Amino acid sequence: MKSVLELREAKRRGQKIAMLTCYDSTSAALVAQAGVDLILVGDSVAMTMHGHDDTLAADVDLMALHIAAVDRGLRQLSSVSPSSTQTSRWTRPMIVGDLPFLAHRMGREALMNAAARLMRAGAQILKVEGIDGSEDDLRYLIQSGVPVMGHIGLTPQSVHALGGWRVQGRDARAAEALLRQARALHECGVSALVLECVPAPLASQISQELEIPTIGIGAGAGCDGQVLVFQDVLGLQSHFKPKFVRRYLQGAEILTDALRRYVDDVRSQAFPAPDESFDLPARSPEAQA
Ligand code: KIV
Repeated sequence: MKSVLELREAKRRGQKIAMLTCYDSTSAALVAQAGVDLILVGDSVAMTMHGHDDTLAADVDLMALHIAAVDRGLRQLSSVSPSSTQTSRWTRPMIVGDLPFLAHRMGREALMNAAARLMRAGAQILKVEGIDGSEDDLRYLIQSGVPVMGHIGLTPQSVHALGGWRVQGRDARAAEALLRQARALHECGVSALVLECVPAPLASQISQELEIPTIGIGAGAGCDGQVLVFQDVLGLQSHFKPKFVRRYLQGAEILTDALRRYVDDVRSQAFPAPDESFDLPARSPEAQA
């Protein structure tokens, strides 16, 4: 996907949008070659890559660092010949950068500075959690030429206010509040909307009502697209599997097994072999004399 204009177009055509998180250049190349439409450099990086319990530790510096790494991964991939990539089906996905905790709540100047940092680092869209109280700033950001993706439902930056990682919008009042937020974001001009841990019928209703695409995570099949976390899809964190995650690989077991074989080979001296080592250059007869 080359621009935000294509997002609405995809929805109109009924083409589902595939988004995955990733945070570094190596995984960006893998994800892009799989053909994703959007790469989300999410503030989940604080948890998946830096071992925090929630996303609050991610700040603008950290997000810019990881967005730039993903951007470099995609540039490197573009510069290698198609025959050396895993598949020819990839077109450069757009990078969605997460505005981290409170970055849009510290005044307009701070918001604009944060947005400039993340866009210059390589993001083409910024994702913003929540809306209440931020309507004017979001509108200003969008009117300044920065495409924005909304994010409502279980917004991890508010995990302490929400009382934990729980499904949102389950009772009539909470559902009405989510509908109102979705409409307000649409009215602000966001290009797409993430719905996280929202009951499937409510997510479907929001998706049908809005012209912009919805991208669900734990929000059922009625959304216009889906997003999952790289580590979850590949089963890299064996201790953690939310209900909405589908693992496409038992990655933790497979990778640990490969690494264990490396350790064994070092200990048994099976690695390195002669053809994995360098020889001295052949000496000339004069030098040997
Ligand atoms: O940071 C993130 O990974 C996210 C997704 C869970 C949508 O916001």
